[in-house]
Amino acid sequence: TRIAVVISGSGSNLQAIIDACADGGIPGRIVGVISNRGEAFGLTRAADAGIPAITLSAEKGESRESYDARLAAQLDALETDLVVLAGFMRILSPALVQKFAGRMLNIHPSLLPKYTGLDTHRRAMAAGDREHGCSVHFVTEELDGGPVILQAKVPIFADDSIEALTQRVHTQEHRIYPLVVKWFCEGRLTMTEQAALLDGERL
Ligand code: GRF
Repeated sequence: TRIAVVISGSGSNLQAIIDACADGGIPGRIVGVISNRGEAFGLTRAADAGIPAITLSAEKGESRESYDARLAAQLDALETDLVVLAGFMRILSPALVQKFAGRMLNIHPSLLPKYTGLDTHRRAMAAGDREHGCSVHFVTEELDGGPVILQAKVPIFADDSIEALTQRVHTQEHRIYPLVVKWFCEGRLTMTEQAALLDGERL
């Protein structure tokens, strides 16, 4: 399985997947990393792992469709089987989502369907939630709304800080994202109209 990882920032999830591929745990290969930000630390992580990495910046005033067409061209050039969004901070156009339907994954730092969008850790704390977490899901046209594949829960403590909670969630992200990528590469995951299936069973 030829995996392309698309990022904007630190790339700690990218690192977790790089490590899982190196361990032989994932029957696939990261063939490229694409970042929309030139300063993303994930580009350094890719370089350190010997993975081709490119920066694809949006031009001033460029439309979403135009940017996404350029992104699609890069993904095509890599002969991508699976697109892994890992902290990519852009919303995707319907055309790009449809092109990779059933083979594009995202990780979101909340227990979906709770807290789609940004600032999830602060919102979960502000709501007085006792638990929080992260979700890996198939990407569809609905923002953070595609079928959920796997979630991990963490507690929110009475005297918690956003920093501690963020770190706690991140630790879980680094467990579940490589596992889901592994399932995909093993051919065990499929997306239907409204559900994700593992070995044919609804998740
Ligand atoms: C993660 O919290 C992920 O859930 C969100 O963006 C963050 C990316 O972190 N989509 P990193 O770049 O993988 O360290």
